[in-house]
Amino acid sequence: MTVPATSRGAWKSSAGFIIAAVGSAVGLGNLWRFSYTASTGGGAAFVVLYLVLVLAVGIPVLTAELTVGRATGLSPIRALERIGGRGWRIVGAMFVLLGFLIFSYYSVIMGWTARMVWDSARGTIPADTGAYFTAISTGKAAVLWHAAGMMLTIWIVLGGIRQGIERAATILMPILFALLVGLATWAATLHGGGAGYSFYLKPDFRALLNLDLIASAAAQAFFSLSLGMGAMITYASYIQSKELNLPKQAGIIALSDTAVAFVGGLVVFPIIFHFGLQESIGSSAIGALFIALPKAFHSLVPGGALIGTIFFIALYIAALTSAISLLEVVVAGIIDAWGWSREQAALIAGGAILLVGIPSALSLDWMGFLDKFLGEAMLAVGGVLIAILTGWIWSEGADAEVAHGFPYPALRRAWLWLLRIFIPVVLAVVAYTTFKQVVPLARALVGG
Ligand code: PHE
Repeated sequence: MTVPATSRGAWKSSAGFIIAAVGSAVGLGNLWRFSYTASTGGGAAFVVLYLVLVLAVGIPVLTAELTVGRATGLSPIRALERIGGRGWRIVGAMFVLLGFLIFSYYSVIMGWTARMVWDSARGTIPADTGAYFTAISTGKAAVLWHAAGMMLTIWIVLGGIRQGIERAATILMPILFALLVGLATWAATLHGGGAGYSFYLKPDFRALLNLDLIASAAAQAFFSLSLGMGAMITYASYIQSKELNLPKQAGIIALSDTAVAFVGGLVVFPIIFHFGLQESIGSSAIGALFIALPKAFHSLVPGGALIGTIFFIALYIAALTSAISLLEVVVAGIIDAWGWSREQAALIAGGAILLVGIPSALSLDWMGFLDKFLGEAMLAVGGVLIAILTGWIWSEGADAEVAHGFPYPALRRAWLWLLRIFIPVVLAVVAYTTFKQVVPLARALVGG
């Protein structure tokens, strides 16, 4: 059945759309992985590489997703079917499934964050943050906090596009920006923080010769921009104005997202180095964020509890506005495909994701596998498919749609050519390299 456009909902204003889309992009990925990957992968050289990838791959694919969404006014399954033909329904369904599964573990990490807010505020995070993290990251506590975050997300999505998603983003995102700027400013005053900046940004251009690093930067950019799984298609399907300049919106979204990721590092590393805790950063992004940082807050007397609470609130806001978009992909997919009501779709899908997320709340290895496989490799596959669809199959339609609000034919041609050749090649390399990293993780899981 066809759902009339009016019942799907729409953004109240284009500013509302941008802020919601930035909310989707800015998330755990920014604060959890970006600065850590930069510090281990060439510092400032990584930041430059990342920017290049955002410009050459991120913004064009984001523009493509926005174009598909606005042109069809449909969520991924039916949008791809409309422009690509029946077979592309399967790709749309894959996107919905990706949203479903990525949200299942994302919500668990969001749960840890909430727990950290709660314990920081009460001042009950112990000195041994390693043991503390082990205790809260898996098991019953992790399941409960995962469930709490899921309910909050369902509640917001139930409110619909304007009253739920747009309103939440409009309230929460300015708070997030203010908190982050405040934290970065405070961190800049810390004694010994300079060593943190140089650990984060010391350029090592040789690192850029490493193909794995390039692939991980591209995968990071993709995850961080919420690309390759239809979130941006879905959000763009609620845009009413045909005059909106889509490449410009894509640029604003991508640059805001990158700025937040960059500032995240300016917060995290000076704090860790001020307290001489570089040892506890460990070998994973999780270690830097959930072990080293709480330890620093613990040693900060007085005020550590307050700063810790503020930091984890910021992280939670970032996670929540991304979680909303993950759930919305699934909910909108179900509404458009099966004609369910928003209430039914949000409650049933949210409940199912809650259950499917439980294994991630019980095993970090399982979560790590899902993140590599879905959050990196499959998003790259999704990106290749979007690029081919818009660059080759639907290029005239895409061109015509972007032309509203973007009257530069030569730039549109350049965009289409990036989507036709350069981007699929880059993303195929990303998919290949990340799939290779998935294999040992999968083996380890099967081996026990
Ligand atoms: N962009 C979000 C982040 O950086 C994650 C996300 C991925 C959200 C895909 C929606 C879709 O945390």
